[in-house]
Amino acid sequence: MKKDLLQADSALHTELDSDFSKIIDAGMSRRRFMQGGATAMGLFLAANPLSKAVAATTHPDSKLLGFTKVPTSTADTFIVPDGYVAKPLISWGDPILKGAPAFNENGMQPASAQTGQFGDNTDGMSFFPLSDDRALLAVNNEYTNYKLLFEHQGKALSADDVKKAQAAHGVSVFEIKRTSSGWEYVAESQYNRRITANTEMMLTGPAAGDALLKTSADSTGKKVFGTMNNCSNGETPWGTYLTCEENFNGYFAKPGGGQDVHQQRYGIGDDSKYQWYKSDARFDLNKEPNEANRFGWVVEIDPMDPTSTPMKRTALGRFKHENAAVTIADNGHVVVYLGDDERGEHLYKFVTKNKYNPADKAANRHLLDEGTLYVSRFNAQPGEVKGSGEWIELTHGKNGLTTENGFNNQAEVMIFAREAATVVGATTMDRPEWVAVNPHNNTVYCTLTNNKHRGKKAGQPVIGPNPRAENHYGQIVRWKEANNDNAALSFKWDLFVVAGNPTVHKDFYAGSANINDENMFNSPDGLGFDNGGRLWIMTDGSYSNKGDFAGMGNNQVLVADPDSGEIRRFATGPIACELTGLTFSPDQRTVFIGVQHPGEKAESHFPAGGNSKPRSTIMAVQRKDGGIIGA
Ligand code: FEO
Ligand code: CA
Ligand code: CA
Ligand code: CA
Repeated sequence: MKKDLLQADSALHTELDSDFSKIIDAGMSRRRFMQGGATAMGLFLAANPLSKAVAATTHPDSKLLGFTKVPTSTADTFIVPDGYVAKPLISWGDPILKGAPAFNENGMQPASAQTGQFGDNTDGMSFFPLSDDRALLAVNNEYTNYKLLFEHQGKALSADDVKKAQAAHGVSVFEIKRTSSGWEYVAESQYNRRITANTEMMLTGPAAGDALLKTSADSTGKKVFGTMNNCSNGETPWGTYLTCEENFNGYFAKPGGGQDVHQQRYGIGDDSKYQWYKSDARFDLNKEPNEANRFGWVVEIDPMDPTSTPMKRTALGRFKHENAAVTIADNGHVVVYLGDDERGEHLYKFVTKNKYNPADKAANRHLLDEGTLYVSRFNAQPGEVKGSGEWIELTHGKNGLTTENGFNNQAEVMIFAREAATVVGATTMDRPEWVAVNPHNNTVYCTLTNNKHRGKKAGQPVIGPNPRAENHYGQIVRWKEANNDNAALSFKWDLFVVAGNPTVHKDFYAGSANINDENMFNSPDGLGFDNGGRLWIMTDGSYSNKGDFAGMGNNQVLVADPDSGEIRRFATGPIACELTGLTFSPDQRTVFIGVQHPGEKAESHFPAGGNSKPRSTIMAVQRKDGGIIGA
């Protein structure tokens, strides 16, 4: 079916006057748009003329993708293509620090045990080589499920229970080694470290020391305890790990209400999901009004030094950070792309003031403290899903970010970056999740996972890269910066894929021409390139397998050829999991994939089977012939 579609489309090739790409008019998708009652839109599969693989547009079977597609699954297992093998590397609760006990199924272990064990809900991760056969993995532990963490399922939280929950959060760093039977983690390695919601760290950059960051425990506004809701990640060329604080609001409460406009914009409630504020006063905003301002940042960690102090880099703005996609622009400045994952929030980039110097590791450690934060505005002609865009500077005194408009200084612009983005007219997006930069041609991709409010809520019109109302499926936007310079201030964009269900819908909700009944998915979230230029897509969507999602099964990993547009399913996860967290060994012969929260809303016994408790787990995937993953 895919082949027929693409062949039909190839007859409709239209070369546009664009320095971005030749655009293939995906005729089938345009019909889907029009049948859906939308204005006549073109929906485009773009081919990049800079790529060597441009010929793939006339040979729709991708040369990049060499594996056999995996069908959808509703089974309680992790499935990879024929010829591949997947093994659990580490699961929530496995001991990594000296003296930590083994995981115990009954949920009765105290906080002191969890502090030495791998945290819960594995998410973004990065691979830091020590040698050919040894490495460190730095892994986010995004949150925890009280139903699984406690025998009482969270109904009777003691102060120690709150400490245990805090210890299940944060980041785990641990050594792994390659053995004859694959990768294993090294318990009690000198490198192993747990960073939790109570680890001491520093605030650095333009907001550090501001009055809005001072608390009764910290009169400097520079010393903070902990990181949490560490969603996805990034890594720098100077060997550090970036962990992103996402839904931090869920840990704070303002009992009795009366939230100010800032607290409202960042989603602080009267009560909180995790209930920490009842035994830990710093999470009660009536007692510590500024504590929540100290979360929502990107944190830089040196994984090679387990005694190093993590640094919260305030120059990258405060919002619900998803990941941090780092690239070096041609002029040597470091560029970090950043999504704010909430319906109608924004997409940002940060450009460092100083240049990356491969010979000066010490200087690089401060690069993320000085620079300019920008937010994106996407332009499009009515009815088009491609166009131009610009990066708008978030600097005090510019673009209306003045004292009269409520921003007293640059610290406040950073602390309330969401509100600054609104003032400058940023585009509201369908939940920006991960951003990834194609290492072969600098084109940037971002998953816009879904947005049920699109077209219904004020300020979220159906327009530009967010082209569907009540968008349950999501899309991936991509852009090429002016002069192919990632530090540039303007870009051209299109949509790489619009997810949908062509067996249920015949209109625009069927998805773009590169979606068919054999590769369909919903809610793209994790995203990354391997060294070969394959684009990896991970989903965090509905696994109901019913209605709009019929035939999609459990969450999945897909691999795309960015040039031909082909998307092929690589893996499926167990019941009620999200697949998130992706990193490769440098030889590209192992991919590590995170299985987050199996069993969260439906019964699972992954990975151990039987009647065991489901546990978030990192899988190490290799080819049986030892070949390059995905090729
Ligand atoms: Fe933690 Fe937006 O995903
Ligand atoms: Ca995510
Ligand atoms: Ca998600
Ligand atoms: Ca998740």
